[in-house]
Amino acid sequence: MVKIAVFASGTGSNAVQLIEYFRNHARIKVSLVVTNNPEAPVIDKARKRNVAVCIINRKDFYESEKLLETLLKFETDFIILAGFMWLIPKYLVKSFVNKMVNIHPALLPDYGGKGMYGKRVHEAILKNGDKVSGITIHYVNEEYDRGERIFQATCKIDPKETIGSLAAKIHNLEHAYYPVVVEGLLSNRS
Ligand code: GRF
Repeated sequence: MVKIAVFASGTGSNAVQLIEYFRNHARIKVSLVVTNNPEAPVIDKARKRNVAVCIINRKDFYESEKLLETLLKFETDFIILAGFMWLIPKYLVKSFVNKMVNIHPALLPDYGGKGMYGKRVHEAILKNGDKVSGITIHYVNEEYDRGERIFQATCKIDPKETIGSLAAKIHNLEHAYYPVVVEGLLSNRS
């Protein structure tokens, strides 16, 4: 069985999609959700679906190996970032080379980097008058949104598009593709 830890800081709609998609999967399962935010709605959503949750504070995340120990305890093979807001520290990147992916709500390399998250991304895209946006799934390295790109999907931006309507389109793309792309990546790993 390939065991996945999903890292999420907020709503967790992608985390839920991933948990559900792999629920009855023969070879892959989400065994842990990690969050930095004790108030995050993803916590309840994961627990309701019988997935263990680890809440980590900043000091432990950046200055200890506690999270690595937890990931080891849950026999984590692969990490999926799904709306996780903190930069991943070196020790974690090194331990999960080509075994950690992120999803970004735009077509990288555009609209990425520090501070480019959530509505800010869509706001910038609309301000620039872009006609197309999309999602990017990429490996994680030590810089925000800079790891090798794995997959992109696009959507059209309508003349009357709002931040809210674009955010909804992007979420739909994410939900449709993230689990399937991860499944493909993991198809030849045991
Ligand atoms: C997603 O839009 C993803 O692209 C970004 O954070 C958002 C998380 O949304 N990295 P949710 O918490 O999964 O609903």
